[in-house]
Amino acid sequence: MAGRIPQSFINELLARVDIVDVIERRISLKKTGKNYSACCPFHNEKTPSFSVSPDKQFYYCFGCGVSGNALSFIMEYEGQEFVAAIEDLAQSMGMEIPRESFSGGNHHSNDNLYALMDKALLYYQDQLKNSKAAKEAIQYLKNRGLSGEIAKTYGIGYAPEGWQNLSEIKTESKSHQQDLVDTGMMIKNDKGHTYDRFRDRIMFPIRNRRGQTIGFGGRIIDQGEPKYLNSPETKLFHKGQELYGLYEMRKQLRNIDHILIVEGYMDVVALAQFGIFNATATLGTATSSEHLQTLFRICSKVVFCFDGDKAGRAAALRALQNALPLMKDAREIRMMFLPDGEDPDTMVRKIGAEEFNQQVDSSITLFDFLIQHLTSQVDMTTFEGPARLVHIAKPFTEAIKDSILKTRFDQKLASLAGLSEKQYSQATQYSQSQKKQEITTDLTKEFGSPEQEVKPIKIQGKAPFRRAISLLLQNPDSLPAAKLDWINQLDEPGAMIFSKLVVLVNKNEAVTTGMLIENWRGEPEEKHLKALALADLIISKEQIPAELADILNRLEKELIIDEWDRLIAKSKSQPLSPEEKNSLKSLQKEMLLRG
Ligand code: CTP
Ligand code: MN
Repeated sequence: MAGRIPQSFINELLARVDIVDVIERRISLKKTGKNYSACCPFHNEKTPSFSVSPDKQFYYCFGCGVSGNALSFIMEYEGQEFVAAIEDLAQSMGMEIPRESFSGGNHHSNDNLYALMDKALLYYQDQLKNSKAAKEAIQYLKNRGLSGEIAKTYGIGYAPEGWQNLSEIKTESKSHQQDLVDTGMMIKNDKGHTYDRFRDRIMFPIRNRRGQTIGFGGRIIDQGEPKYLNSPETKLFHKGQELYGLYEMRKQLRNIDHILIVEGYMDVVALAQFGIFNATATLGTATSSEHLQTLFRICSKVVFCFDGDKAGRAAALRALQNALPLMKDAREIRMMFLPDGEDPDTMVRKIGAEEFNQQVDSSITLFDFLIQHLTSQVDMTTFEGPARLVHIAKPFTEAIKDSILKTRFDQKLASLAGLSEKQYSQATQYSQSQKKQEITTDLTKEFGSPEQEVKPIKIQGKAPFRRAISLLLQNPDSLPAAKLDWINQLDEPGAMIFSKLVVLVNKNEAVTTGMLIENWRGEPEEKHLKALALADLIISKEQIPAELADILNRLEKELIIDEWDRLIAKSKSQPLSPEEKNSLKSLQKEMLLRG
């Protein structure tokens, strides 16, 4: 399990990479003056409006408005998650990623927790084999068609009745009782008493890729609620990332042609009983793009198994949305729908492995499913139907990142809508140009149009920091050497952002716009900072340090005057303390210095 990647490393990484290299490795760029340009890879266009600034280490598309740094580009273009994009970038730079441990600065390892989980696994397995109380559990597993061998392969065990069984198992750890709570194996109640989470249940261990047990799923024997009880999120176990059965699959199979994604523990195990070892299950969550990335690292073909009912189709649509951005090159995703009321477990027992595999082979591909879904949503026999189709396809069209798939999909939509490709692209470009206009208007509103305001924007009212942030963000070298700690005294959002920028600029080498903005990824301020990074500063580069120094001087002076006024006002109603008198004196001196 990996800890957090330190922000300082991300800053250093972005200081070292060149965004032009990163983007040029993926699309071809043309030098145009200071910047580079290309047809935007994120929307369809014929004339280039995508621009990359090597100075700012930032890209921007005047057509669709996307913007970001090298990391954002990899995430958007490759459909990668944040961490995967960092890994990618770090690898290309030959940099190793340091990890912070989960408990913050405290670097103690989780070895004792893994050891405990291992002991618990052995204990449950032993109970299934040797305890009298497990008779019912064994009978239940047999009734469901499982052999002892498969039970062993998947480490299936039995948690007996009782509240303190796990307290008794021996480990070397000095913090045994605390470890039991930390792993979620025991629950601590309000009164501080601890008791076993799993009692009288069939236990499915959940193992990570190294085969370490990180959690359990416990099934009630036969009927009862809840049917399954799962380990909670712990230091070892992160539901959204793990896939049940993946470790066992890789251990059993040397060549994995494709991977099946099923819903439950029993589906994985029952398929294995029939020799189908290439199934894995998410743990009661939807299949995330993180899950899919993991699977695509193992093989390029993934087949989802869904129930044929309404819930199954809804789950398929969710999976589709997550999967579309990841589709590229040799990757293949298929969707298999089972008859209503069946799951892979019941199905394979009914029809056997061979026919099950045939159904997998003939399952529908992701894009065919998408088209089938879209055309089923409109009445294609009416005049409006085919037009609406293009409209409802939009969120999906936008999710497709691969340009070949995108082009083919557009082609398909055009033909379904009864438009020639030219008509289709004109129609969709029309809505894009409308969007473009909206974006330009927006920017003009924020920053004023360049033609109207030739002079630097005057500091007005309460927003002087906007201009200061814009200047510094775009020209990190222009920070004056003066002491700026007074900014922290100002209680407004702009002041906080500016003061964080100052810290970042002072702390790092080779600071760029793209790197600075990285420090607000996912925060509400990110959007505003991006806009400020792109704002036309109007003045020439040489004038920037002077203007910035000027704004800061004026702000500091205002602060001094305010504070002076406050103390004078106070002195009229009550005597000042010695410290206040002192500070009044030094404020006076400062005011004289500044004139
Ligand atoms: N699940 C869960 N908690 C529940 C019910 C379900 O965590 N109370 C998760 C489990 O991972 C389970 C999966 O959702 O394996 C699918 O649930 P379901 O279809 O109800 O169970 P099956 O896997 O079919 O189990 P069984 O065949 O034993 O009834
Ligand atoms: Mn089932």
